[in-house]
Amino acid sequence: MRTIVTGAARGIGRAIAERLAHDAHQRGETPRLVLVDQLGDELATVAAHLQTHFNAEVQVITGQMANVQLPTVVAEAAAQWGGLDGLVSNAGYAQPGDLVSFELADWDQMFAVNVRAHWLLAKACFPLLQKAQGKVVFTTSISASNPTTPLAAYSPCKAALLMLMRQLSVEWAPHGIRVNSVSPGMTLTPGTAPVYQDTSVRAQREARIPARRIGMPEDIAGAVAFLLGPDADYVHGVELMVDGGLQHTVMVSPVMDGWRAVQRPSDR
Ligand SMILES: NC(=O)c1ccc[n+]([C@@H]2O[C@H](COP(=O)([O-])OP(=O)(O)OC[C@H]3O[C@@H](n4cnc5c(N)ncnc54)[C@H](O)[C@@H]3O)[C@@H](O)[C@H]2O)c1
Repeated sequence: MRTIVTGAARGIGRAIAERLAHDAHQRGETPRLVLVDQLGDELATVAAHLQTHFNAEVQVITGQMANVQLPTVVAEAAAQWGGLDGLVSNAGYAQPGDLVSFELADWDQMFAVNVRAHWLLAKACFPLLQKAQGKVVFTTSISASNPTTPLAAYSPCKAALLMLMRQLSVEWAPHGIRVNSVSPGMTLTPGTAPVYQDTSVRAQREARIPARRIGMPEDIAGAVAFLLGPDADYVHGVELMVDGGLQHTVMVSPVMDGWRAVQRPSDR
């Protein structure tokens, strides 16, 4: 199992790296992982953990996803293993703001990291993926199809990433490469932890989610493992929502209880 995971130092990316290493180890394979993140020290800690617990071979690359040279460096690292079975392009971030006052430089940086970097990395990995008949998974978001306040450019970025995934899926399926995405809902990670420090905010959010709990990184990692694995062999261009049912709640709210006053036609 030869896989690249970006954003692997923390949160969802870290959980994905751990899940993939665990699963490969369970199958009796040597997990081979290229882990990428801007946080070098934390990434080294993750790598050491995977080496100790799962006998993994890990290459660590510290870098900024907005750097257009980075994808080549990452692909060259994976090339040492002769092919690539999985690319998990996960690194991304949200920045609060409103579009009326959002800075141009912030918009450009968000699109560089949350969209462009995913395309450039997938493109750099194409020969290796083709050779191994590999799989690609992007981390999109429930925000890709739902405007999200106060996150200004985040939903537009994730919507673009979602369509990039679909575009790649149809271009690359004939080459034997599957491309899909996971869209987390509200998930507790270091990136979102400040949101949940206020326990009343957490309770309000949990009340809105049909599953009545905030998602955990391991929930997302399980979905990624499925999309990378043989059970998903005929799954192409799919956005797998992992959100406790939140996506379906637009018409679910106490104010909708007004419907209870409407009688059946036969009772009118
Ligand atoms: N947590 C949520 O509620 C949630 C919901 C939907 C989608 N997502 C998406 O999931 C992915 C992971 O989010 P998370 O919650 O685990 O975040 P996180 O902040 O906890 O972890 C993200 C990791 O990616 C790295 N990273 C971010 N930008 C980078 C860059 N430009 N260059 C290099 N490394 C970079 C960070 O250093 C960090 O280690 C992101 O794409 C995010 O948009 C998260």
